[in-house]
Amino acid sequence: QEGVFTYDPGFVSTAACESAITYIDGANGVLLHRGYPIEQLAEHSDYLEVCYLLLHGELPSAEENQKFHDTIKNHTMLHDQMRNFFQGFRRDAHPMAIMCGVVGALSAFYHGEMDVASQEQREITAHRLIAKMPTIAAWCYKYAIGQPFIYPRNDLSYSENFLQMMFGVPCEEYKPNPILAKAMDKIFILHADHEQNASTSTVRLAGSTGANPYACIASGIAALWGPAHGGANEAVLDMLAEIGDESNIEKFIAKAKDKDDPFRLMGFGHRVYKNFDPRAKVMAETAHEVLTELGLENDPLLKIAQRLEKIALEDEYFVKRKLYPNVDFYSGLILKAIGIPTSMFTVIFALSRTIGWFSHWNEMVSGDYRIGRPRQLYTGSDSRDYPTK
Ligand code: SDX
Repeated sequence: QEGVFTYDPGFVSTAACESAITYIDGANGVLLHRGYPIEQLAEHSDYLEVCYLLLHGELPSAEENQKFHDTIKNHTMLHDQMRNFFQGFRRDAHPMAIMCGVVGALSAFYHGEMDVASQEQREITAHRLIAKMPTIAAWCYKYAIGQPFIYPRNDLSYSENFLQMMFGVPCEEYKPNPILAKAMDKIFILHADHEQNASTSTVRLAGSTGANPYACIASGIAALWGPAHGGANEAVLDMLAEIGDESNIEKFIAKAKDKDDPFRLMGFGHRVYKNFDPRAKVMAETAHEVLTELGLENDPLLKIAQRLEKIALEDEYFVKRKLYPNVDFYSGLILKAIGIPTSMFTVIFALSRTIGWFSHWNEMVSGDYRIGRPRQLYTGSDSRDYPTK
C-alpha cells in the first residue's frame, strides 16, 4: 500500500497500538500529521484547520474549513454554572489544577446525552472541547489574577479570541495584535499531537475502559503536568532565569552532566527524537521572528537560550547521547513575549494537545478495542505464610 511505513520486528513488539494520525521518525527528525510535515503545516495552515485534519484524516475543502471554523465559534461559551467550579479553588491554585478539575467536570454537563457509538455525537464532543478549552484556560488565568472572566467573541479568530479572553478587560475594547495572534496559533499547531507520548497514551488507556471522553482528556491533562513532559516549557523559563547570565551557562551544563546531580537541561532530550525535534526548529525561528518584531531581539533570556543551545550541541556528553533541543526549549520564550506567565505555559500545551488526545481517543473507539492491561516484572517477596500466634 503506497506510503505505508515498514518497521523492523523488534519495533513492532514494543508498539502500544496502531494509529494513522501522526508519524514520527526520531532518527531523522520527521513529524507528519496525517502525512503532512509539521514544518509545512506550521508555515501554511492554522490551528483549526490542523484540528480538522487530525480529526478527519484529510485537509478540509474551503467550504468544509469555513463551516468548521463557524461551528467552533458556536461552542466557545461554558455553561454558566461552570463558573462555580473556578470559585471552589484557592486563588493561588496552579492553573493546571483548575483546568484538570473543570475539564473533568464537563462530563457532568455534556456527557449524559452522548452516544459514543455515534460518530456524529463524537464530532460534536470534539467541537465542544476544541471550542471550550481556550475559554477554560483563559478563565483559569483570570481567576488566578482576580480579574473578571471575559466572554468569547465571535468576530475574532481562534487565537485572537483566546488572547482577548486572557488579556481583555471589561473597561476597554480589546484590540487584537496580529503578530501575537499568529505566534499563538503557531504554538497551538506545534503542540497539537505527537503520537503515543505519555499523556496521549494515558488518554487511550483511560478510553480503553469505556470512560467518557471528557474524563479521558482530564487524565491526559494530569499526565501532561509533569516537568518531564508538558511541564518542561515552564521549567525551561525557570532554568533560563536561574542561569541569569551567559557567564553561568558552563556551570549549568556541568550540573546537567553530573550523575550525582538530578538537574537536567530542561527543553533538551527526547525519548524518540535522536536528531533535531522538527518542532524545535520551527519554534526557534518563530521565537526569533516574534521577539524581533516586538523589538525584543536582545531579550537576555533569548541570548542565554541561543548560547546554551550552541554550547550543548558542541558538548561531547550531549552529542554522544543525541540530546537536542525539543519542542519546549524555545516555546516559553514566545509565550513570555506574548505576555503569558510561566504558570500558564502547560495549560496552553494542554489546550493545544486536546485535539491530539481526542483524535486518538476517537480513532480507538471508532474501531474494535479492548481494555488496556499493561503487565509487569514482579520483583517482590516469594509467597509466604501469615505468622500465626
Ligand atoms: C515532551 O513523548 C513525547 O512526544 C513528549 C513531547 C510531546 O510532544 O508530547 O515531545 C513533549 O515531553 C518533550 C520533553 C520535555 N521534557 C524535557 O525537556 C525535560 C528534560 N528532558 C529529559 O528529562 C529527558 O530528555 C526526557 C524525559 C525528555 C527523555 O528521557 P529519556 O528518553 O528517558 O532519556 P534518558 O533518561 O534515557 O536519557 C538518556 C541519557 C541519560 O544519561 P545516561 O544515563 O545514558 O548517562 O541522557 C541523559 C540521561 O541522564 N539525559 C539528559 C537529559 N535528557 C537525557 N542529561 C541532561 N539533560 C537532559 N535534558
